[in-house]
Amino acid sequence: MEEKKKVIFSGIKPSGELTLGNYLGAIKNWVKLQDEYDCYFCVVDLHAITVRQEPKDLRRRTLEILSIYLASGIDPEKNTLFIQSHVPAHSEASWLLTCYSYMGEMSRMTQYKDKSKKSGENIGAGLFNYPILMASDILLYQTNLVPVGKDQLQHLELARDLAERFNRVYSPTFLIPEPYIAKTGAKIMDLQDPTKKMSKSEENQNGYILIMDPPNVIRKKISRAVTDSIGVVKYSDDQLGVKNLMTILGSITGMSMEEIEIKYKDKGYAEFKKDVAEAIINELEPIQKKVNEYVADKKYLESIYKSGAEKANYVAMKTLRKMQKKIGLIPR
Ligand code: TYM
Repeated sequence: MEEKKKVIFSGIKPSGELTLGNYLGAIKNWVKLQDEYDCYFCVVDLHAITVRQEPKDLRRRTLEILSIYLASGIDPEKNTLFIQSHVPAHSEASWLLTCYSYMGEMSRMTQYKDKSKKSGENIGAGLFNYPILMASDILLYQTNLVPVGKDQLQHLELARDLAERFNRVYSPTFLIPEPYIAKTGAKIMDLQDPTKKMSKSEENQNGYILIMDPPNVIRKKISRAVTDSIGVVKYSDDQLGVKNLMTILGSITGMSMEEIEIKYKDKGYAEFKKDVAEAIINELEPIQKKVNEYVADKKYLESIYKSGAEKANYVAMKTLRKMQKKIGLIPR
């Protein structure tokens, strides 16, 4: 008998243009996992609306992310690609799990603390509840592994806690998911301030590279990336800027940090940076071309997300019905 494949779930929220961090921390690894696992890759639009979105931009970005998944090599035949809001079980499960979550554990989420600081006086309740929706995404599919960047680890820990709590209160309902963090690229840093993670919400545009940035912009941003006066390409915490550029180069080319150190031993930062920029361009340019083709083919995208939602809906409903039954809700 063929063994049942383990399940992977991951998602990206369409709240801004995607960065090289999203690509190296998430998507590039998904591509490698798709043969071995039963994968659900979602565009988590309901997560994006925890901060105000321009409706037309949200629509455009949602389809652009789906196109980026496809263009990066995620095969829609092998994987389930869908849009979160198309599977109502996510919202329903999220309410149910909200009733098993504590204010204390939620207020400890560092992403919430950071984002709420930026929101001024009126902090959205969605921002606070956001990790519960993420837990629902994961738990509904009886997920074994969640491939994410390091910044999502705390949210994943909460998903595990909620699953264990629910299982304990009732009986085993959810599988307990494990994080899957890539060896390199799990935390790409800001090019201008390498103590912070690269993020699309940063004000200084030179700090991040977008997946859709044209080659000349990539060259410019890398050449302006902060380095140091030490002048040696070395993987060291005393050289955070250089370390980050090495991580980027290594994640793209597969070179180890030692190999990079040896290759650039007697070379200056200018040459090193030039190679980093060209590696990024070589990786992203073919993807960008395909993204533009997919984005223009709305019918094709529709066929992908519709059949994805159908499959996801079937699987998610099974878990949701179990939850409802155990809680004591009358079956529909
Ligand atoms: P989001 O949309 O902020 O980011 C998507 C993925 O990209 C990774 N990432 C990075 N990796 C390395 N370096 C960086 N600088 C960097 N920036 C972002 C993130 O770790 C993530 O893997 N809450 C999630 C989305 C989500 C989700 C889920 C993920 C919702 N439901 C269920 C997994 C499973 C988020 O906001 O990711």
